[in-house]
Amino acid sequence: MASTRLENNRNLQLINRISELKKKRNAIILAHNYQLGEVQDIADFVGDSLELSQKAAKTEAEVIVFCGVHFMAETASILCPEKRVLLPDIHAGCPMANMITADQLRQQKTKYPNARVICYINSTAAVKAESDICCTSANAVRIVLGLRDAGEIIFVPDQYLGHYIMTRAGREMILWPGYCPTHVRILPRNIIKLRKEYSQAKVAVHPECRPDVIALADEVMSTSGICRYARRDDVQELIVGTEIGIIHRLQKENPGKRFIPISEQAVCPNMKLITLEKILWSLEEMAPEVKVPKEIRLRAKAAVDRMLESG
Ligand code: 13P
Ligand code: SF4
Repeated sequence: MASTRLENNRNLQLINRISELKKKRNAIILAHNYQLGEVQDIADFVGDSLELSQKAAKTEAEVIVFCGVHFMAETASILCPEKRVLLPDIHAGCPMANMITADQLRQQKTKYPNARVICYINSTAAVKAESDICCTSANAVRIVLGLRDAGEIIFVPDQYLGHYIMTRAGREMILWPGYCPTHVRILPRNIIKLRKEYSQAKVAVHPECRPDVIALADEVMSTSGICRYARRDDVQELIVGTEIGIIHRLQKENPGKRFIPISEQAVCPNMKLITLEKILWSLEEMAPEVKVPKEIRLRAKAAVDRMLESG
């Protein structure tokens, strides 16, 4: 009891200090839906990858404190090179984004010289620079449908998102064998068991899940898509197939409803590296800063801009 009070006081002090420094630095705090609850609670905006990149592109703040993983901060820096983009823990990476290098993508392009390249936003700036257009889980199917007249399409790096798009858009793509180590922990048997326990519940999963998981879901959506779906009156109980950090937001926005994670194992350790202490330190030191070299940035920006312009 006494230790909880002490912790609450400490958090309050941290929050007050962060808020003072945020004003002083003219900073905005953007947080992904998988961030720790206390980080989501102090953010100016919480959202999915598409919404966060849209916010970064529009903000008038001079400093963006990005509470997410490295590729997200890089995307903000690609879009706003004049701003200082801080990632409170520089080791917060996305293992899936690192499953393909720019060299490997160049080799793949040599094998399929006429193919267009779509890269998932979960990719490095150097990979984006080698791509024609970027996509997120929220707009991937629409973007592929928009390329209906294109010939071959190379899609990197997530094979499961790629597979999902192919089934929804009704077209083949050349996939790369990348995957999210967190989402592959969500298994069909987990859903089968929970469906028996919560017979009235709906099941919503992220498209990074395996195809046999997606096949058992009622809805397949980006993280913010799941948050919107949860607000519907006909959804009172929801079985959730994505990283468990999203449960905080779901519960906060829908206090009377029940949210059941499909797997408690679906934790992204990189997302959890960002803490209140590190946010404060980051604002004090104005570090660690994420910056993309101009030559890569300009080519990567073209791929991200094409995505944002597509609506
Ligand atoms: P969203 O764009 O749906 O938030 O997903 C990002 C991500 O990293 C999922 O693992
Ligand atoms: Fe990357 Fe998966 Fe973590 Fe999302 S949940 S940031 S895809 S490792």
